[in-house]
Amino acid sequence: MEQKRSSFTGKLGFILAAAGSAVGLGNLWRFPYLAAKYGGGIFLLVYLILAVTFGFALMIAEIGIGRKTGLSAIGAFKVLNSKFAFLGYVAAIVPIIILPYYSVIGGWVTKYLVTFVTGGGSAAAGDSFFTSFISSPGEPLLWFAIFLGATAVIVLLGVEKGIESVSKIMMPVLVALTVGIAIYALTLPNALDGLVYYVKPDFSKFSGTTVLAAMGQLFYSMSLAMGIMITYGSYMKKDVHIETSTRQIELFDTGIAFFAGLMIIPAIFSFCHGDAELINSTLTKGPGLMFVILPQVFDSMPGGDIVGALFFILVLFAALTSSISLMETVVSIFMDKLHIGRKTACLIVLGISVIIGVPSSLGNGIWSGVTIMGMDFLTFFDFITNNVIMPVVAFITCILVGYVIKPAAIIEEVEKNGKFTGKKLFTVVIKYIAPVCIIAILVFSVLEGFGVIKV
Ligand code: TRP
Repeated sequence: MEQKRSSFTGKLGFILAAAGSAVGLGNLWRFPYLAAKYGGGIFLLVYLILAVTFGFALMIAEIGIGRKTGLSAIGAFKVLNSKFAFLGYVAAIVPIIILPYYSVIGGWVTKYLVTFVTGGGSAAAGDSFFTSFISSPGEPLLWFAIFLGATAVIVLLGVEKGIESVSKIMMPVLVALTVGIAIYALTLPNALDGLVYYVKPDFSKFSGTTVLAAMGQLFYSMSLAMGIMITYGSYMKKDVHIETSTRQIELFDTGIAFFAGLMIIPAIFSFCHGDAELINSTLTKGPGLMFVILPQVFDSMPGGDIVGALFFILVLFAALTSSISLMETVVSIFMDKLHIGRKTACLIVLGISVIIGVPSSLGNGIWSGVTIMGMDFLTFFDFITNNVIMPVVAFITCILVGYVIKPAAIIEEVEKNGKFTGKKLFTVVIKYIAPVCIIAILVFSVLEGFGVIKV
């Protein structure tokens, strides 16, 4: 049965749906730990510059491609130029790899929610709570299975709509709570030193890795370079202004990430009581950072158990809407390409997710000794998608738009609803700046990885 492609109802519908896909663990979990690790202010600065140049141009290009062709990534690239059909498939690999380890972190969030709801908030603030949770073999696996299972059930039953309507109410509450917690965290003793670290760029900490990490985070957080925004664009009505929507999504996504960092980084300086060595080891903690610091913040505030429980339930919803959308994307690709039913496709995706998810989960605990290229499994899957595949997809997209279909094709699509203010910026970034920078960063990081150059 041919189904008519449904459209988002109105302007707000599109922005909310796209923002719903963009806002998730990327903002709340990934951004703060990367910012802490890669030098604070300098990471923030590089991220902001990339967001208003690369992010802006790429998002317009992707939404434009989607709306112009009315197709999702695989079909859209093929229609634009048959030589670029492969790009749709490469882009499709990204959500397949992200979903499993996203579910691992989603599992951690679920565990913390249950801990706070059952009154274990102050225990969670204890020194070794996170470490002992993560190094026990079974527990993280169990929470991963619960989170992934919930996602699969929702996708299988096709009841995303219900979750989405709930999360539309929860999203503004999450934003308000994040801002509130950030303001509270700034009042903690010594927190202002952390604020300085977070917002004041220290140029001596600048390196190629900083740029690569910031670029990967930009793609991840805004769901770029993986075909997602093309799909969203294909659902977008012809009367919505692409440029305005892009700016709003970017502002919203970056704003939440900024406040998430503000919630976590200054607090590190407070809890470490000015001990430089402890501060340094906490800043470079990696994926566990949010789970170590936030319980301490909640523990230090009156009514922290309730605030913590409320916070984690909101984060769980933000994570679920993202994981559902990730799984839905992958399931529909498999259904289309393999001509199989929804149930079979769901089972295949579940199988892949277990194969990638289990080592990602154990790699933070009992398998932490097992590494690929010096990285634990989760870090490796995260690295290979964000720092390798996505930059490559972004690069080829720039070549396609800049030189094959030409920027004018996208500009025309944007201008259907009025003026395109950033037209020049868009053209220059897509044709020259983005491709050159992406290649330079990739080459640099490969050389760095092989130890040819040192930073
Ligand atoms: N951008 C989401 C976040 O910040 C993560 C994400 C990446 C995503 N790709 C996606 C969400 C595809 C939905 C669909 O958490």
